[in-house]
Amino acid sequence: MSNQGKVLVTGGTGYIGSHTAVELIQSGYEVILVDNLSNSELSVLDGIEKITGSKPQFEQFDLCEKDKVSKLFNENEIGSIIHFAASKAVGESVEKPLLYYKNNLLSLMNLLEVMNEGKSDAMVFSSSCTVYGQPDKLPVTEDAPVVPAESPYGNTKQVSEEIIRDACKANEKINAIALRYFNPVGAHESALIGELPSGVPNNLVPFITQTAAGVRPELRVFGNDYNTPDGSCIRDFIHVVDLAKAHVIALERILESKQKSNFEFFNLGTGNGYSVLQLIDAFEKVTGKKLNYKIVDRRPGDIEQIWADTTIANQELGWKAELGIEEMMSSAWKWQEKIAGK
Ligand code: NAD
Ligand code: WQD
Repeated sequence: MSNQGKVLVTGGTGYIGSHTAVELIQSGYEVILVDNLSNSELSVLDGIEKITGSKPQFEQFDLCEKDKVSKLFNENEIGSIIHFAASKAVGESVEKPLLYYKNNLLSLMNLLEVMNEGKSDAMVFSSSCTVYGQPDKLPVTEDAPVVPAESPYGNTKQVSEEIIRDACKANEKINAIALRYFNPVGAHESALIGELPSGVPNNLVPFITQTAAGVRPELRVFGNDYNTPDGSCIRDFIHVVDLAKAHVIALERILESKQKSNFEFFNLGTGNGYSVLQLIDAFEKVTGKKLNYKIVDRRPGDIEQIWADTTIANQELGWKAELGIEEMMSSAWKWQEKIAGK
């Protein structure tokens, strides 16, 4: 049984971290959010407070600084960690690989070190479906091979999983679950928190909403000549609130000693694949807005199609995504309208 205490949410003002903080608080957990604000804003804390009625404890520092990490654990009773903090832009990671390796691996190592020192024994880690590359079989199961990563970012997720696996093997007192997210989209239904991409978005949904809002003149659809029914790529889009809820459940699996081994990993998707063109269609139907888009060449590095087999997550975690593509699109649009109005 893991020691109780506060839940440390690293990257807690980020997109997925903030939604998870809300679910944790609403489930009765005391949280501490840590973030260096390299890719998020302090105002996210106000959104969390408005939704939950309580302002979470927040510490601003860089998790690569071991002395600060140690100080945090010495000054607070932290029972468990949900580790979201990382740099996540695939393209940028190709330009600045060392920055990605350093930030994503050092922050993780610092946390595992304090766990090894006995200061906490539970970690839920943000991994990614990127570890599968283009799988041979769809839907992709957790036992599909992890293939050489397409980008330094993807490699940090593979190496992180290996580091955690080895750390858990060497120290049976520490417990971890890696969650392999598919494509998280959407926002909290309150539109008080959501995704805040800085600059030009890399990901599809913020690009769609910004185009519909007139922030971007047009959306470029990268390729319609793939071997898919409509020629565009297929992804497993998952609502960020469903994803956030899965973190609370994964944490409880560790805290209640329900794990089958002290390192486990699960796919988190809906189990349904939607093409880029289907997603655009869903967005137009839900919002009544016509999207200005054109088909352009394929984007280098994109895989053709992937969606999750969620059987193990369904059975072991007792978790299933509940929100569909309509809720994903309507909440993303409501959030876009909210931030555009600020
Ligand atoms: P995000 O950028 O919104 O959140 C990450 C947060 O971590 C940011 O607020 C950033 O300021 C903070 N951060 C980064 N490095 C830090 C450091 N060294 N010290 C302290 N804070 C730091 O990203 P997100 O979409 O919420 O992603 C969360 C996690 O999920 C990441 O690990 C990401 O790789 C992973 N993931 C994301 C997606 C996705 O599509 N969003 C998919 C799969 C996996
Ligand atoms: C989705 C689809 C694009 C933008 C990335 C990371 C992955 C994971 C999730 C963290 C693709 C198409 C996109 C645009 C488009 N992140 N697209 N026009 O590439 O599936 O995954 O985020 O772990 O590691 O690689 O997501 O949202 O960028 O793209 O046509 O302007 O939308 O080609 O088919 P992706 P995405």
